[in-house]
Amino acid sequence: MTTDCTPPSAPGGRTPARPGERAGGPAPLVAAQAGFQRALAAWYRAHARVLPWRESPSLYRTVVSEFMLQQTQVQTVLPYLARWLAALPDFAALAAAPEARVLRLWEGLGYYARARNLHRLAQHLAALPAPPRTPDEWRELPGVGPYTAAAITSISFGAPVACVDGNVVRILARLTADPTLYPDSARAARAFTPLATALVPATRPGDHNQAMMELGATVCFRQNPLCPACPVRGFCAAGRRGNPAAYPRLAPREREPLAVTRLWCVRRGALLLHLSGSGARRFANIHELPTPAQAGLAADTVAAGPRLAQHRRSITRYDITESIHRGAAPRGPLPPGLVWVPLRQLDTLTLSGPHRRWVRSILASPAPRPKP
Ligand code: ADE
Repeated sequence: MTTDCTPPSAPGGRTPARPGERAGGPAPLVAAQAGFQRALAAWYRAHARVLPWRESPSLYRTVVSEFMLQQTQVQTVLPYLARWLAALPDFAALAAAPEARVLRLWEGLGYYARARNLHRLAQHLAALPAPPRTPDEWRELPGVGPYTAAAITSISFGAPVACVDGNVVRILARLTADPTLYPDSARAARAFTPLATALVPATRPGDHNQAMMELGATVCFRQNPLCPACPVRGFCAAGRRGNPAAYPRLAPREREPLAVTRLWCVRRGALLLHLSGSGARRFANIHELPTPAQAGLAADTVAAGPRLAQHRRSITRYDITESIHRGAAPRGPLPPGLVWVPLRQLDTLTLSGPHRRWVRSILASPAPRPKP
């Protein structure tokens, strides 16, 4: 690689370096890229975690693991991946599986669109004479964005493209002490893509990308980065300035509070659940405790019943408080989507992860006692 390939839209302006301090910005890093790549690669060979998609790599393992890792951490993914590979060992088995089975195997990982897309992707591949090899072709497939396309093609086909996610943005923002304030992480990722690309070596680009991911996950933490253990600390402008945790600069994310009421109704050993139809993008074919609207009941009527549990979670831009109240079933025929599920059959169908936990916890409490 040449050493004069400063990215055209390199992130950030420059903060003036103090006397004796080397400047930040991408240029010094790009100029030193060969040394940077060597230091990172040597560290990765010595320190990479032993992970199933690295130990016995295959295109299928890489694709499934990258889909699972899209919104989930490595440690969480491991048991799901093992169960998945045992049940659906290759693209052909996945393509042929019914969607209900695929969703059941995914249950607990959340963001079910990933499972549905992976399923459709396997069906697409089954219809092709050979899998595509370039990032652009992979991006045509369901659920494959720029990051996943880069990960799959660099790891499986040696494509010299960069994976840029929050971890990589953090590393690059620190290496360059980038002072730019980014409105959101997507914009930061776009801004750092030229620099990340300039740093990818022509040989084993997949290892380089995984080394960057590994560095972000095990050393270059958001808070309290382990700088003394960092293999590329000699290239790090923020490290030299002593303030790595100040980067990247991202505008704080505004979240809106949202209150959701849910109905708990058990009758003759069956629990009332809502099953979204195939039109409901995120929750199609997934069971959840019904909201008053889904149950055809007034919200205040349900909220007036004894509260069995309250849970908080953040999804996208919402801080959601979900309150589960015991109440009576709607009168007359059940509204569309509502189903009575015998309690002993709960394990055979797909509930969204949080709802599975809430249902288990309410059923496990000796006598569900209302909370004020
Ligand atoms: N996150 C996304 N892809 C990954 C990979 N291949 N290894 C570790 N973490 C990852």
